[in-house]
Amino acid sequence: MKHPIIDVRNVYFSYNGSPILTNICLQVPEKEFVAFIGPNGGGKTTLVKLLLGLLAPDQGTIRIMDKPPSKVAHRIGYAPQDMSINKAFPISVLDVVLMGRLSAHSWVRVSRKDIMAAEKALESLEMKEYKDRKIDDLSGGQRERVFIARALAADPEILLLDEPTANIDSHGRTYLYNLLKELNRTKTIVVVSHDTMVLSSYVTAVACINRDLHYHDEAEITQEMMDMGYHCPVELIAHGIPHRILKTHGSGE
Ligand SMILES: Nc1ncnc2c1ncn2[C@@H]1O[C@H](COP(=O)(O)OP(=O)(O)OP(=O)(O)O)[C@@H](O)[C@H]1O
Ligand SMILES: [Mg+2]
Repeated sequence: MKHPIIDVRNVYFSYNGSPILTNICLQVPEKEFVAFIGPNGGGKTTLVKLLLGLLAPDQGTIRIMDKPPSKVAHRIGYAPQDMSINKAFPISVLDVVLMGRLSAHSWVRVSRKDIMAAEKALESLEMKEYKDRKIDDLSGGQRERVFIARALAADPEILLLDEPTANIDSHGRTYLYNLLKELNRTKTIVVVSHDTMVLSSYVTAVACINRDLHYHDEAEITQEMMDMGYHCPVELIAHGIPHRILKTHGSGE
C-alpha cells in the first residue's frame, strides 16, 4: 500500500469506561475516497473526533500526514454531524465560512483573499447568494451546505464530513457527491454516511465501523460487514453495477 495519509494503529477508546472502539487499525492512502458506514452508535463519529485530535485514544497511535492529529488539524476540513447553532448568536453565513479559514492562522485580520476563498467555497455549494443571511435563518439543508463550505474554505488536504447529506435533498446529494469526486482529484476524502446506494458509485473504499472496523479498498460491502451491524441486506452499487453483495472475505484478509 502507498504511504498512508491517515494511519491508525491498534486504537482503543472508551467513554467513561465503556468501550466504544476496540483495536482499530486503518491505513488510508492519499487521495482515497473512503466511506465510513455502520449502525447508529457504532463509533463512526467517535473515530472522526479521534482523527481530528478532539479525543485522544486510550491506547494505540494515530498519525495524520505523519504527525499527531492535533498538529495538523488545520490541514483537515471538518464538517461535524451535529451543527445546531446557538440561535442567539447572530453570525452571517459568510462569517461561518470564514471561520474555516481563520482556524489555520488563529484570529488574525480577515484578508481580501480569505473573503474570496470563503465566497468561492459558498459558490461551490450553490450558497453564495445567502452569504449575508444569518446562519440560523437558513433551512437545515442550507445550513449543512454552509458547514461543508466552511470545511472547504481553507483548501485542506483531507476532508472529513460526518453525515453531510442528512438534511440535503436528492438534487443536493448528487451535486455534493459530484463535487466531492472532483475534489478527490487533489484531496483525501472521508465521508460518514448511511447513503450506501449513492456513495458506492463514488467511493474507492469502505470502512464498516461497529466497535471494530473492517476496511475494504474497494467500494464493496461484504457479508461480514453486514453481519457486523446491518441486520438487513445492504444494497450497494459497486463499480457502477447495482447488485447486492454477499461475498465473504477469508480469514486474515
Ligand atoms: N460524549 C459522550 N459520552 C458518553 N458516550 C458517548 C459520547 N458520545 C458518544 N457516546 C456513545 O458512544 C457510542 C458511539 O457514538 P458515535 O457518535 O461515535 O456513533 P456513530 O457511529 O457516529 O452513530 P450515528 O450513526 O448515530 O451517528 C454511542 O453508544 C454513543 O451513545
Ligand atoms: Mg455519528
